[in-house]
Amino acid sequence: MESTLVILKPSTIQRALVGQVIDRFQKKGLIIAGIKMMRLSEALLREHYAHLVDRPFFPLLVESMSITPVIVMSIKGRDAVEVVRAMTGATNGRKALPGTIRGDFSMSGQENIIHASDSLESAEIETRRFFKPDELFDYTPSLMRSMYAPDEI
Ligand code: PPS
Repeated sequence: MESTLVILKPSTIQRALVGQVIDRFQKKGLIIAGIKMMRLSEALLREHYAHLVDRPFFPLLVESMSITPVIVMSIKGRDAVEVVRAMTGATNGRKALPGTIRGDFSMSGQENIIHASDSLESAEIETRRFFKPDELFDYTPSLMRSMYAPDEI
């Protein structure tokens, strides 16, 4: 099974949407393999958003991502990277389709509720960036057999 990395951004904390966002992942059948609250330092943000450091909006992005702590999650499931990206929607909340997390909760490209890894390679790098090995848990929920066919697990 794949794991992907999700960050619940400060706007999600400020707007008290944490429960609703996590609820969507759990109702979908995705498994929480790791979850914690942390403050993102500028150094960590520079590493995480290294591909964006030269963009004009980068200082605003750093400010926005450090205004409160965030919640980082490792989310597991079959094809989890693709499934979570589809649930997340387009970067800009105004363009994200209704039914997606950003489409339903965001009007912004910056304050767009969550970050989700965009590929399996990024997911592995980003999970290592935010979690130590002993913060990730391997377990099988008892409802697994109701969520997948035996050959999908
Ligand atoms: S891009 O523009 O195609 O490289 O965008 P992307 O790789 O999806 O990542 C953009 C991330 O930067 C955050 N951000 C903004 N994007 C666009 N415009 C503005 N003004 C802006 N401000 C911040 C955006 O929320 C994306 O963050 P993540 O965490 O990856 O969703």
